[in-house]
Amino acid sequence: MIEKPKLYITRKVPEKILEPFQQDFTISMWKYEEEPVPREVLLKEISDAHGVLCMLSETMDQEIFNTGSSLQVVANLAVGYDNIDLHAAREAGVVVTNTPGVLTESTADLAFSLLLSTARRIVEANQYIKEDKWKQWSPYLLAGMDVHNKTIGIVGMGRIGEAIARRAQGFGMEILYHNRSRKVESEKQIGATYVDFDTLLNKADLVVSVVPATPQTNQMFNKEAFQKMKRSSIFINISRGSVVNENALVEALEMGEISAAGLDVFAEEPIRSDHPLLDKTNVICLPHIGSASTETRSSMLQLCLENISGVIHGTGPITEVK
Ligand code: DGY
Repeated sequence: MIEKPKLYITRKVPEKILEPFQQDFTISMWKYEEEPVPREVLLKEISDAHGVLCMLSETMDQEIFNTGSSLQVVANLAVGYDNIDLHAAREAGVVVTNTPGVLTESTADLAFSLLLSTARRIVEANQYIKEDKWKQWSPYLLAGMDVHNKTIGIVGMGRIGEAIARRAQGFGMEILYHNRSRKVESEKQIGATYVDFDTLLNKADLVVSVVPATPQTNQMFNKEAFQKMKRSSIFINISRGSVVNENALVEALEMGEISAAGLDVFAEEPIRSDHPLLDKTNVICLPHIGSASTETRSSMLQLCLENISGVIHGTGPITEVK
């Protein structure tokens, strides 16, 4: 009897999603949904796996690719893939895939929720009531900043950046963007204006980081960048923590160089509970839930499984990271 290829999944995922693939693969997965697989278990499981579906919390480095001698494909459950050593994967002849497209709208929704909640102090206001502080209505009680008609500066105009821009259009915002290259089509469709990074920082009321983590974007939001922003501005980061110098961000908030921040991602995840970003009322922090709607996470899983199946059955992956 021919053995079925082994597919290893680094978190517990719903059995229902796996059903269509059970026939073609021997599927094994880590037993917990909320806890990452320990490194030694991953190394053991990978040693005879043909495909791996991994999370952004796993570091897929040279050791992993050297251990997986039968490994053909690694499917990352994320659009970002900074957790994967692409060079080591290529050397080992392993295809890497990610999940672009299916998460665009959900991630843009989250960016916009963070932007609105930070500007209108939603979390603070909710806390205010729950702590029984609401004794009187007053004209400027928890007054925040308007979002409509303001200037948004989108740094990184990929699919998610464009989806954020479409939402900003609906809010009557002026849309500035900065990107590696100009997106002439987006400029026409969304009415966005390309500007250099410094101009964007100078002019935007809300600066949104959507850039991928690369050596070029590493800590691009540093002391100088925050000093160029308006004192009334709000900084939103939904991309990766490595694009921000967090000490500089803390300092900018404490010195009043910017007015607030909304963050879904951090240099170290999970962020430690005593981190100075967490004790500020003008900072909203989320546990990296950009694409976390039930529908989107299921679509992402489905795409990962189809990518793995495509590579192993020779029809090719749908969304390979080149
Ligand atoms: C991604 O897909 O890279 C997101 O950060 C996950 O939420």
